[in-house]
Amino acid sequence: MIAASASAPGKIILFGEHAVVYGQPALAAPVACVQATARVEPAREGHWIEARDIGRRYRLEAPRPNDPLAAAARLALQRLGLAEAPAFTLTVASSIPLASGPGSGAAVSTAIVRALAAAFGQQWRPAEVSALVFETERLLHGTPSGIDNTVIAYAQPVWFIKGQAPEPFAVGAPFQLLIADTGRPSPTRVTVGEVRAGWQREPERYEVLFQAIGALARHARGLIQAGQPAALGALMTRNHALLGELGVSSPELETLVAAAQTAGALGAKLSGGGRGGNLIALVTAETAAGVEAALCQAGAARVITTTIEKTPAAG
Ligand code: PMV
Repeated sequence: MIAASASAPGKIILFGEHAVVYGQPALAAPVACVQATARVEPAREGHWIEARDIGRRYRLEAPRPNDPLAAAARLALQRLGLAEAPAFTLTVASSIPLASGPGSGAAVSTAIVRALAAAFGQQWRPAEVSALVFETERLLHGTPSGIDNTVIAYAQPVWFIKGQAPEPFAVGAPFQLLIADTGRPSPTRVTVGEVRAGWQREPERYEVLFQAIGALARHARGLIQAGQPAALGALMTRNHALLGELGVSSPELETLVAAAQTAGALGAKLSGGGRGGNLIALVTAETAAGVEAALCQAGAARVITTTIEKTPAAG
């Protein structure tokens, strides 16, 4: 084995979270300015995981139950056919805030899988990496749709339907988003479980909401491809309202969405599991600074700017 490093981007869900778990389409994009990194180095003895951000160092063989870092490493070693791997230390770090960040779990797992593959002389295709990371997502989420591991492993904007091959989608004109962290961590497993309980209680009402969210995702894909991103704002705000009806908004999210809109955002919505976590706001070069200031003043813990770039093949 050789020393090797790998990284993976964060992600945002543009449209379709939660409904995607029930077969509706969703759109997601990578966020390159936040990254998870993993480095594998030969060691004198044992297999060690060092998670710098949370100040933990432990043996791969003795993690807490459902430890996603250990699961990612074990799955990668299995895939490499290494029942007895040589001794190594695996160091992971992430600039994506845990449990409220854009795809932090899947990004860390992706970086681990890639770094271990590289340390043993292999480079796996995005589909292979995504499939391994999906297994670790199951530990975290219970019933993940697979969108996080897909968008992060492919590192490009994707149109995603559960159980189908992801389709990279064309972006006809670039658009700018602010990602604001409510500062309130919210494990996706909890909100996904609550939506499931709601759906079991009131299947018809929830199906109508899921379908309405799916229709927004289809409409949004057309606008993005056609290079008309400004029109996305209204769809984002509508998607946010539907997520509220699913029960996954929160007072913090409502305050920040309203602040973004008052300050001139074209639209805003929660992004990801909800009940805290992050929201995205659609801005222009003229409104970005004002909306960012308004979000900070309304209590956002952190605001990141990201641009969804025009894809080379588009228009
Ligand atoms: O909380 P995040 O950013 O990992 O996003 C979860 C997206 C959900 O649709 C709520 C769950 C899923 O598995 O698709």
